[in-house]
Amino acid sequence: MKIAILGYGIVGSGVAEVLKVNAAQIAKKAGESIEVKYILDLKDFSGDPMKSFFVKNFELIEGDPEVQTVVESIGGETIAYDFAKRAILAGKNVVTPNKALIAAHGAELLALAKERGVHVLFEASVGGGIPLIRPYNGAILTDELQEIAGILNGTSNYILTQMHQNGTSYAAALKSAQELGYAEADPTADVGGFDACRKLSILLSLATGKTADYTNIKTEGIERIDTADFAFAAAFGYTLKQLATAKIRKEGAEAITAPFLLKIGHPMSTVSDVYNALWAQAKTTGSVMFYGSGAGKLPTASAVVSNLVDVALGTHAAHEWTKENVKILPAAEYVTRKIVRVSCSDPAAITAKATKTLPQYPGFVAWITEPETEAQTASALKGLKVERVLRIYETT
Ligand code: HSE
Repeated sequence: MKIAILGYGIVGSGVAEVLKVNAAQIAKKAGESIEVKYILDLKDFSGDPMKSFFVKNFELIEGDPEVQTVVESIGGETIAYDFAKRAILAGKNVVTPNKALIAAHGAELLALAKERGVHVLFEASVGGGIPLIRPYNGAILTDELQEIAGILNGTSNYILTQMHQNGTSYAAALKSAQELGYAEADPTADVGGFDACRKLSILLSLATGKTADYTNIKTEGIERIDTADFAFAAAFGYTLKQLATAKIRKEGAEAITAPFLLKIGHPMSTVSDVYNALWAQAKTTGSVMFYGSGAGKLPTASAVVSNLVDVALGTHAAHEWTKENVKILPAAEYVTRKIVRVSCSDPAAITAKATKTLPQYPGFVAWITEPETEAQTASALKGLKVERVLRIYETT
């Protein structure tokens, strides 16, 4: 099978490398060799060992019947969308790690691919190198999915781990995540929670067969988290993770991406550094968890290559959802317990009045609320100098 790689960034160059390094195993598994015919990129790669494959003209790829599959690794939703659509219309399969593309245009591209008899596969779009979409879509979704919770952004998890375990500053940890090739070109999507939110939207779309519009999913990032948050969390037996969660209710889905407190001992509480995890609960399957490298060149590229093998074999379960929107319930109504921290000049005066013993810190007092909505918490905290409110993740 001849392929074209669109975009020679971290993942695109990783795909070329994995195809070369694992060529023999891939050919054996796929029943044919998988070879790069073109690499499309506007930058100059004259010193690269793959230099003879570079082209700057998409029409060349589009019009070449020998190219059966394109790997779209440009990223974003504009050029990537145009090229992916044109590739499908030209009768080519599309394999992509691009979560922004799939979250925004999945329904349309999947329908078009079905019509044209080709595949759109996106194993690497969620969880980086974790082979996750395949078993999630092929096995768990034959059951009734009840809840998912994931650490789905490697950059955020890496930053939080560095801050927590090594006392690294937020800025230094982010810089290091960029140098390691974990972060997007613009890391705002990583640290702001938008990358994880798009991944959640893909999982929810697969689960419901409808589009989970990511713009309807409440999204908070890790930008305001500081080392004190970890200390307060630990005092109550919790750790802090950036989670993407969805609970399927009769009336719709409760979906949110935000920093959450996780009880120490929860299987996801030890998922550190660039690792990602997805915990899923379905009616008869019970609980399962996927774990592995959530970002990085070769793990992500390996997931892309696994899809190229799927295309060669034609054995994967269909991915499908319609343009109709899943009902996302308003986040203000989700009920959670929270750890709240308020600053005050005399913590002892407050703790003395409390019905439960609260940890005392100079200048602060912190406690765990009852299960309540955002509005109930806000109303209870009225008039207090609130430093932080962090939701606790609990399965229901
Ligand atoms: N920037 C992403 C992350 C890459 O950090 O998880 C993998 O999708």
